[in-house]
Amino acid sequence: MKLLVPAATGVEAVVKRQLEALGYRDLRAINGRVAVCDCDWRDVARINMFIRSGERVLVQLARFDVPDFDALYDGVRNVAWRDLVDKNGRVTVVTKSVNSKLFAHHAIQSVGKKAVVDALRNGAVLDETGAEYRVELDITDDVCSVNLDTTGVGLHKRGYRTLPYDAPLKETTAAALIDLTVWNPDKMFTDLFCGSGTLPIEAAMKALNIAPGFKRHFAYEQWSVAAGAYERAFAEAADVRRDRPLNIVGGDISEKALETARFHAAQAGVENNVKFNLRPAEQFVSNSSYGVNVSNPPYGQRLGDEENAKQLAKNMGKLYRALDKWNFYFLTPLEDFERLFGRRADKKRQLFNAGIKCCFYSFNGPKPPKPSPQDPCDP
Ligand SMILES: C[S@@+](CC[C@H](N)C(=O)[O-])C[C@H]1O[C@@H](n2cnc3c(N)ncnc32)[C@H](O)[C@@H]1O
Repeated sequence: MKLLVPAATGVEAVVKRQLEALGYRDLRAINGRVAVCDCDWRDVARINMFIRSGERVLVQLARFDVPDFDALYDGVRNVAWRDLVDKNGRVTVVTKSVNSKLFAHHAIQSVGKKAVVDALRNGAVLDETGAEYRVELDITDDVCSVNLDTTGVGLHKRGYRTLPYDAPLKETTAAALIDLTVWNPDKMFTDLFCGSGTLPIEAAMKALNIAPGFKRHFAYEQWSVAAGAYERAFAEAADVRRDRPLNIVGGDISEKALETARFHAAQAGVENNVKFNLRPAEQFVSNSSYGVNVSNPPYGQRLGDEENAKQLAKNMGKLYRALDKWNFYFLTPLEDFERLFGRRADKKRQLFNAGIKCCFYSFNGPKPPKPSPQDPCDP
């Protein structure tokens, strides 16, 4: 079975590395999706449970040319639906069309659905009262990929972030940002603008090896074809390093934000591993000489807020110069962020946050010295 793991623009390489860390090889990233070959339902369950920045896990059921609707019907009908869908399964069809002759979504959807129903029905009336099977017909450059969504609600919904908050980062994006930094659990981690706590919580979950999917459920769990797969993945998720010492701190000027962040940390099981402090970012001081700050400060999108966002960028530049061995990272759409910060970034990556084009700026500090080799004369 071939799986496809969609990734947000700019984080495909991160998702590829995360899959490699889970033991998968020969991965290819195409059109914002990382393809994983030679998989079975246990892999579906493992990837859903452990991938930190993928958006969902799809099974590619077929791939064929679609010059016209007859080809679409035949290609979809030829899938072994009866081996896959339970007797009372409810198949829903969603469509995507890019640069192709077939582009009318409603027509693609109804031809696709008819082909599935004809294959399943075999003369009988369908009882569609059971589990949902969401099928995506992705037509790109006149080639149709028939993909079954095994995830259901997107993987950014970990299950711990239940309180509303203004402009939170998606959990999958936060995890990707962390992976794009030099942070490791031996260093201090801060988010000086932590809001609902997403970045510190994701950092702690990664460091403690808490599976991002341990607190939620997935569409495939309802399907006979995947029986037992979730239980195996859940058992593997028990390997948590809860006693690992961490120095992870979130700060914000809003008491409400910190209340929300603390609640979310408790839901994620990291309340004893992350501290949240009421403090303006500008007043941050630290005894740790080496540390990493990752933040998405206020964007200033609302009228009147832009000046404040610009002033914060200037203040963060000052703070970075004061903490001269720290690495600072900021996700922001502010176009002149480097000028305001007062330094050219060491690296810039274009990403999207809530549909807004942003840049992820990296401002490096010096590398910590390597521990000196032991004197050969030492006992
Ligand atoms: C875009 S939100 C961060 C969202 C967060 N990443 C999340 O996932 O919920 C920006 C946050 O910065 C906080 N903030 C604004 N000015 C601040 C300052 N001077 N110091 C610290 N926090 C500040 C706001 O209260 C807000 O919670």
